[in-house]
Amino acid sequence: MTLSTIWDRLDAQAGRVSARAIATLFHDRNRAAAFSVRFPGPSAAAVHGEEMLFDFSKTNIDEDTLELLIELAIAAGVQARRDAMFAGRRINETEGRAVLHTALRNPEGKVALDGQDVMPGLRETLLRMRGFAREVRGGGFVGQGGAITDVVNIGIGGSDLGPAMACLALAPYHDGPRCHFISNVDGAHAADTLKDLDPETTLVIVASKTFTTIETMTNAETVRGWMAARVSDPGAQFAALSSALDRTADFGIAPERVFGFEDWVGGRYSVWGPIGLSLMIAIGPERFDDFLAGGAAMDAHFRSAPLRANLPVLLALVGIWHAQVLGHATRAVLPYDQRLARLPAYLQQLEMESNGKSVTMSGQDVARPTGPVVWGEPGTNGQHAFYQLIHQGTQVVPCEFLVAAKGHEPELAHHHRLLLANVLAQSKALMEGRGIEAARAIAEKAGFVGDELDRQARHRVFPGNRPSTTLIYPRLTPRMLGQIVALYEHRVFTEGVILGINSFDQWGVELGKELARSLEPLLAGGARPEALDGSTAQLLDFVAAVRLSV
Ligand code: F6P
Repeated sequence: MTLSTIWDRLDAQAGRVSARAIATLFHDRNRAAAFSVRFPGPSAAAVHGEEMLFDFSKTNIDEDTLELLIELAIAAGVQARRDAMFAGRRINETEGRAVLHTALRNPEGKVALDGQDVMPGLRETLLRMRGFAREVRGGGFVGQGGAITDVVNIGIGGSDLGPAMACLALAPYHDGPRCHFISNVDGAHAADTLKDLDPETTLVIVASKTFTTIETMTNAETVRGWMAARVSDPGAQFAALSSALDRTADFGIAPERVFGFEDWVGGRYSVWGPIGLSLMIAIGPERFDDFLAGGAAMDAHFRSAPLRANLPVLLALVGIWHAQVLGHATRAVLPYDQRLARLPAYLQQLEMESNGKSVTMSGQDVARPTGPVVWGEPGTNGQHAFYQLIHQGTQVVPCEFLVAAKGHEPELAHHHRLLLANVLAQSKALMEGRGIEAARAIAEKAGFVGDELDRQARHRVFPGNRPSTTLIYPRLTPRMLGQIVALYEHRVFTEGVILGINSFDQWGVELGKELARSLEPLLAGGARPEALDGSTAQLLDFVAAVRLSV
């Protein structure tokens, strides 16, 4: 079957199932098990205690739909493209680059790029990172005022979101210096972060693949000035993570504290290597290795498991069904895990920068909508904010719940029980809803009668039939986090291949950067070009007037 025939059949399938209630699918007693996948599978899990269960049975996907979706993945060439990626082929065609972030989490593996073994360089950097992290943690590397108490990572996008998300996620494992993150060019971010820090015991890590990003370089200069006021040799308390070693040298950072990586590591896929240094310092190299091992285990599964039992592929196919076939424009990521509070932001970059494209690899307009808007907040907080719309609004928002079976605070096990009860309740409520009869009974009990009863009952109806998936895992350990992050990376990859787009470039971020460069002089009073649009001119006038009057 050709790709377009499969898409057509999926559209027809969507038409067939649109009136069907998801809840009725559970008349098949085997549904939950059949529409779930376990990773890494019971026997391996016994070794690591790290089994995760992805349950997508509370969706309208049935056996026929799944079969078609799998045919879609095959016809789109997911397996061949996956193998090309792992083999170091230049699959990022618009930038002429290989995509080898997976090599970072498998340092003992073998990967050649254009016939050159890339692993020795990667291993050497990893060894240096481990050595440096141990020195910072153990007091072998000190600031002017003694042992390092705080680490400030300055970076943005992939040079910030990965380590920031992971540092928060793995807070129970922190036994190194405190970690802080400055990303925004808004001076408030630097000011608020630095105000309680002691420059004499702070290590600053400038994280930028290109070492040209205006936000990061501006913040790096500012922080260097802050440090210079108290520290005689501020450069000695700076480290850099970058692929532009000439620029880190120009900035004055000694080569022994520069950790480089190659252009085959995309920014949003870079937490596994030098960009993860702050995380390694926070939790220690051994736990960082566990994080890498989790990612590597997911890679092995993605490469070898049959598509019907392949967790990233299934997660991707559920995404394709909801966004590209049913046309749901957004998806919510809802971790019932406070320490995954930054996961939605991390996934926004991973998914939206990767798959927010409108041109195919061959330069044609895409035939289907591409990546959906990804958004979310931890539960239970979101329940008291935006879940109203998810339950009773006019748009269907497919929800992706994540939750650990067990928390890290045994003395607070009753909190965790409540957390679990809530996540289970939400997916059940979304699916089952509440019909008019039950709503009437509630309104009646509240004392309403007659027309008012009818009116009040309407407001208490939940349409239900709203799809969700749940990813449940024993506990949020470093290894588990590695599994989760790699799972989402491969999901994005798989969706990108099915859509025929390049998930590894990001040309869409360039225009705004260029315009910011040309507008900055106007804010300093520079002459305005004649063609400046009226709205921008008015906003500039407002700023100028405020400046003059304050
Ligand atoms: O502007 C987008 C982007 O290029 C991201 O892809 C990247 O993660 C981020 O900026 C930061 O880039 P760099 O690490 O080069 O500073």
